[in-house]
Amino acid sequence: MILENNGTFHLQGKNISYIIAVNSEGDPVHVYYGKKLKDRAYSAPAPRQLAMTAYSENNITLECVCQEYPSYGYNDLRKPAYSVKNVSGNCVSQLRYKGFRIKENFAPLIKGMPSVFVGDKSVQTLELTLADDIAGLTVVLSYTVFDEYDVILRSAEIINISNSDIELDSAYSASLDIAKGDYDLIYFPGAWLREREFTRCSITQGMKFDVSNARGISHCINPFIMVAEKNADEDKGGVYSFSLVYSGNHSSSVECDQYGNIRVQQGINPFMFKRTLGSGESFATPQCIVCYSDNGIGGISRELNDVYRENLCRSKWAHMDRPILINNWEATYFNFTEEKLISIAKQAKEVGVELFVLDDGWFGQRNDDFRGLGDWFVNTEKLPSGIDGLARRINEEGLKFGLWFEPEMVNPDSDLYRAHPDWAISVPGRVPALSRNQLILDLSRDDVCDYVINAVCSILKSANIEYVKWDMNRPMTDMPYEGYNHDYTLGFYKIMDAITGAFPDVLFEGCSSGGGRYDAGVLAYMPQIWTSDNSDAVARLKIQYSTSIGYPVSAISAHVTAVPNHQNGRVTSLKMRGDTAYAGVFGYELDITKMSGEEHEDIKRQIEVNKGLRTLMRTGDFYRILSPYETNYCSWEMVSKDKSEVFFYAARILSVGNTIEAKIRLKGLDADADYLDTATGKKYGGDELMYCGIEPEFETRDFDSYTMILKKID
Ligand code: GLA
Repeated sequence: MILENNGTFHLQGKNISYIIAVNSEGDPVHVYYGKKLKDRAYSAPAPRQLAMTAYSENNITLECVCQEYPSYGYNDLRKPAYSVKNVSGNCVSQLRYKGFRIKENFAPLIKGMPSVFVGDKSVQTLELTLADDIAGLTVVLSYTVFDEYDVILRSAEIINISNSDIELDSAYSASLDIAKGDYDLIYFPGAWLREREFTRCSITQGMKFDVSNARGISHCINPFIMVAEKNADEDKGGVYSFSLVYSGNHSSSVECDQYGNIRVQQGINPFMFKRTLGSGESFATPQCIVCYSDNGIGGISRELNDVYRENLCRSKWAHMDRPILINNWEATYFNFTEEKLISIAKQAKEVGVELFVLDDGWFGQRNDDFRGLGDWFVNTEKLPSGIDGLARRINEEGLKFGLWFEPEMVNPDSDLYRAHPDWAISVPGRVPALSRNQLILDLSRDDVCDYVINAVCSILKSANIEYVKWDMNRPMTDMPYEGYNHDYTLGFYKIMDAITGAFPDVLFEGCSSGGGRYDAGVLAYMPQIWTSDNSDAVARLKIQYSTSIGYPVSAISAHVTAVPNHQNGRVTSLKMRGDTAYAGVFGYELDITKMSGEEHEDIKRQIEVNKGLRTLMRTGDFYRILSPYETNYCSWEMVSKDKSEVFFYAARILSVGNTIEAKIRLKGLDADADYLDTATGKKYGGDELMYCGIEPEFETRDFDSYTMILKKID
């Protein structure tokens, strides 16, 4: 609901209030974002008089006033939300309030980019129009609020209303000033095989922190951050989160000023960004989802899960159980024959697998990673029946068929590159840098996007392909101009719109050398993303634990792979690998034909369990209980919305001699209900499980896991 009263705007969500007021000078001032307030007459805090930072005639300054979209160079010298240079070369700007519009049942569609949609929710959008008449600039800020959620969707449009060009050097999607207080920053840095590591640090005066990525893919920093009260944890305390619906270079900036106020901004990374806006032209930022919860990190996480599952992902698969798959990558790598694939599929079918995925190596001369990318026609030496014939054979075995693509890339040793060397990103006079022996296609060009769309669509039309793994395996170098990465990203979205639109029944899975492009922008098109190439069950504790904070478990692809693990050499039990992968989109990626009969029986049991669990894992509320970042354990739990079904998981990483286990307390259950442990038949009270806890039974060895599936007794 949006309540307007004489230049004050009170946005109310399910449990939150967000209040903006226009002060006497025409500055749009941020009054409050937090737990829901009653509507009454709120007013803007007056600009203060501060001896050392007084700029205006009246000796007043905005330097310690919370603002909505701060300008630079006049009476606030903190980091601005946007930065422009006018024809005379100066960067001074000041936006003043001009007017507002409230739009019912409306959430903005951002030109060329994905965004959260209205669906069947009750939604309102406030548009604030601000202008700098001297710079010749209009800015429209958009705030969308849902009756059912605690998120505010924010974005900005910057319009050049002058008669000459304006250079736009930065434009954040959202800027939020949090009034002085004791807060921590939580963010998710990482690397290939170590994606999204939970990291928490104090925000202190003078700190300027740029959680940003300018590499095209973002293994090293995820576009999701939180600002949490010092004492906030998984279950309690005030936490703000910022998620960018964007897959290009991003920045989440946190600045703590000289008075202790905290300015948080999220949007396109200003580093290597520039846009020249001609007279009348405008620039739209991607959307930022801002969320507040006073139920700690877990509160944020469950809220974002609902928003993503219900109102971000456009695929019908967001609301459908995903098939349990087997992928041939770690089973064969490039070295396979059609008969080998069929033998894997046959054995997989016997144990209950539903989808066979053919990974890299099926096209052109792609027998290693030095050649063939870009040549999207089947290699009939390897696959004599072609993709169509292979899909048919897999279908005859009783499995669906899925296929890997990496359409944004090209190997110099490919027919595509030989025909169109200018289609790869490069700058004149330089040999472009290779990574994994490949170059990136120039998706800022319409003809290149059209080629990619046609190449992929014609294969999808040619055979019964029901799943696509869309990979993207290198960082971006040799960018021809500042701002190129944004144009590339728009090209990527154009391709995604065309292909997912043309094949609405196909289940798309995102991938980027594992989890290198794991963001809300990708999730708008693809309901699941390959979380990491590191599939070791112990490494996955941290990776899945931290990924689940910002993204739904229904997006976290998790495969059981062979031991010793191909990435880190660790040996864990099949049980632990399966138990851990249940908290994700479950599958296998190993040579099942080489496993023993006993292992096949174990896999059969795992698949049965997963078939019973997957609806719960897709639709429930996820609770993290013990953090592998802080303890020798990891524990998490999924509870159905009606609290009738529960999946509980605990892992102990290293075995400890001569000790007893501490009880683990479950969360989110119905305290008045009784629950049945479906494996043992033992009964527990919901209150008993939550307040007294249970002692997991671990075996005396390293790397063990324990699970319980509980059902409420009527
Ligand atoms: C990337 C992916 C892997 C696999 C390979 C194939 O590394 O993350 O899962 O598909 O590419 O080359």
